[in-house]
Amino acid sequence: MTLLKQFMDWATASNKTSSSGFYYIRPPLLSIYLIVIGIILGVSGTALYIFFARSMNQQLNHRLITLVQAAAPSLDRIKSEKRPNFDRDIPWLSFSSNSEQSLEWFDTNGQVVAKQGKYFPPLPPPIKNPENKPIFQQKEQIRSVTIPIYADGVEKNTLQLKGYLRASESLREINRTLTHLQLGLWLGGSTALFLIGVSNIYLTHKAFEPTIKSFQQLKQFMAEASHELRNPLTKINFATETLLSHPEKIRRASDLRKLIMIQSSAEQMQRLLEDLLFLARTDSMPNSNEWEGSILTLSELLLPLVEHFQALARNQGIEFQTQLLDGLAIRGDASQLSRVFSNLLENAFKYTETGGKISLYLEKSKQRAIVSIEDTGIGIAPEQVPFIFQRFWRAEQARRTQEEGLGLGLAIVEALIKQHKGKIIVNSELNVGTCFKVYLPLV
Ligand SMILES: Nc1ncnc2c1ncn2[C@@H]1O[C@H](COP(=O)(O)OP(=O)(O)OP(=O)(O)O)[C@@H](O)[C@H]1O
Ligand SMILES: [Mg+2]
Repeated sequence: MTLLKQFMDWATASNKTSSSGFYYIRPPLLSIYLIVIGIILGVSGTALYIFFARSMNQQLNHRLITLVQAAAPSLDRIKSEKRPNFDRDIPWLSFSSNSEQSLEWFDTNGQVVAKQGKYFPPLPPPIKNPENKPIFQQKEQIRSVTIPIYADGVEKNTLQLKGYLRASESLREINRTLTHLQLGLWLGGSTALFLIGVSNIYLTHKAFEPTIKSFQQLKQFMAEASHELRNPLTKINFATETLLSHPEKIRRASDLRKLIMIQSSAEQMQRLLEDLLFLARTDSMPNSNEWEGSILTLSELLLPLVEHFQALARNQGIEFQTQLLDGLAIRGDASQLSRVFSNLLENAFKYTETGGKISLYLEKSKQRAIVSIEDTGIGIAPEQVPFIFQRFWRAEQARRTQEEGLGLGLAIVEALIKQHKGKIIVNSELNVGTCFKVYLPLV
């Protein structure tokens, strides 16, 4: 039994990390990796964008302040002449050649005295400005700054308000630059993500290659070892059976007990080997469908099973209810499908206590036959449901209530249903019951 346990542990490990398992974990691994890289690129790109946008906006504000302060002394002359003379009055100004900037001179009431430029904000100047600070305004892609202009008053130490000056600049250029930056960041980020993804696929493939290879060899070894163990086991079975067929020839009762133990262990091992060999075959030919041509009626296939399990139900004191719809024909292999339903029914009987109820229904839905096997047994905890089709997996509660079992039955069921292009769904509640539904395409 220890040997059997060791063999099972080894086979479990090899199954959990089987080569197909590697292929399954690659897409989620790659997705997680790309999501993390995407987040890093996204955050750095956004930070870069915010930094550039802020610095460009600060530069613009600085430009406007410089412009408006430099133009401040011209207010008096322009008020008297009603128009600016750039050649004479404003030699510091290069804005007449800068079509994005403009200047407006206002009197103390906020009425325009003169203006120069192309873009003016569609807003009145902010003349109620108790703090006398430059005031920024922004509307319709135009930013402006307004300052009040003062001169010495008639009385000593007083200032007299002369008017206001507003400098504006269109944000078109900045927005265009920022759009280009955004596009560049998007393109750069997507290209980087794509290249990282491709190189990651290549690298994980290379990294997994030796492991996949060695697990394939392990699987091959498992299949061959199972095959080789078959013959000696058959001989042990045959020998114990022969000895046990004449119990009177065995002198000591303790020898008889030992012999029965040997036989039961050998039978268990034989079952394990048969199951392992079957799974090894389906692993190597996952889509084999030699039965492609054979059509069978599901109710006829299920009847012998019903008879067998009705007898078991009587023995176990379980209520067994069946309802089979006639005439549902599917394409498949009769012995393999019998194995599917007998494995599911075996589980139902194994994990349901005396006094419980088991139902077997065969129905039709659209172009599919549905076989439901429902029990009021120990049930499966929701967090354990994803594991039940794994090889050698058994719930703790199942181990406690039923010592016998290898945890291979449902793995075989799943492989066979897949070969028959069907699907299996499980609904279960701990300590309430379990329902397996098998969907098979009708012909
Ligand atoms: N009807 C059920 N009710 C409760 N638990 C179930 C039921 N069917 C399956 N399970 C859980 O799923 C596990 C895997 O089932 P599976 O048939 O593969 O293995 P097993 O019955 O333990 O052993 P065996 O290889 O002999 O079938 C079981 O050990 C049990 O924990
Ligand atoms: Mg089982």
